[in-house]
Amino acid sequence: MSVPLEGRAVAVTGASSGIGEATALVLARAGAAVALGARRKDRIERLAQRIEADGGRAVALEVDVSDESQARDFVEGAHSELGALHGLVNNAGVMLLGPVEGADAEEWRRMVAVNVMGLLYCTHAALPLMREGGGGHVVNISSTAGRTAAAGAAVYNFTKFGVTGFSEALRQEALHSNIRVTCVEPGFVETELQEQNTSPVVLHAVEKMREQIGDVLQPGDVADAILYALSRPQHVSINEVLVRPTGESR
Ligand SMILES: NC(=O)c1ccc[n+]([C@@H]2O[C@H](COP(=O)([O-])OP(=O)(O)OC[C@H]3O[C@@H](n4cnc5c(N)ncnc54)[C@H](OP(=O)(O)O)[C@@H]3O)[C@@H](O)[C@H]2O)c1
Repeated sequence: MSVPLEGRAVAVTGASSGIGEATALVLARAGAAVALGARRKDRIERLAQRIEADGGRAVALEVDVSDESQARDFVEGAHSELGALHGLVNNAGVMLLGPVEGADAEEWRRMVAVNVMGLLYCTHAALPLMREGGGGHVVNISSTAGRTAAAGAAVYNFTKFGVTGFSEALRQEALHSNIRVTCVEPGFVETELQEQNTSPVVLHAVEKMREQIGDVLQPGDVADAILYALSRPQHVSINEVLVRPTGESR
């Protein structure tokens, strides 16, 4: 078995389902010790048990990343539990779609709080720990929605364009501390993300898009891309990874 991440410690936010869960599994199988962050404690605890039963190393740390002190505790807790912090995968996210006019502003606040502020808080806490440890790698999960805007996704676009822009600026700053930055932009992935929408119009539009695409991505497809970026030699920095299902036209 190939263990390209042997001896590395990586924290993953949003590890209770979808891309984050698959990423934690893939990274652990590649030899990394992983810290699993999310609000659903039962899920991350079960995942940690599964990884440890497979011979890996995992700790489950309950966190709401939209709360600055919890986000800091998560990152510092990952560092102290695992003994180091080489990687941070900022994956936690929420996607609540619908037109701007008539939207519930609470949904906007949730998206900005998790997709933008949560990512900033975790990164802010991780940078000094990585610098003091001699370097590191921050992987930010943006989206094709961070490149191409579409009616009905305006505020999700707003958050993901933010993640993409932030990632490039951070890359330029952090390279001086030997910290690499990767922005991952997945297309349609089969996860629980879409299910948080309650509007029948939105759910219908999502279902139609899925039908047009055909075979959508599975969480493991994105996890493999993250593993690829994390496992390059230190002098190689994969800055952007755009992964779409083959049938996705936008
Ligand atoms: N699915 C797609 O088509 C797609 C495409 C492009 C990009 N993405 C991005 O991929 C990332 C992962 O999404 P997914 O598709 O895997 O969806 P998912 O299965 O719904 O996973 C979202 C994760 O985020 C966590 N999360 C949400 N709010 C949180 C909070 N306040 N604090 C901590 N964790 C929180 C959830 O955990 P808890 O609820 O347990 O806290 C869950 O683990 C997101 O950033 C999303 O925008 C997804």
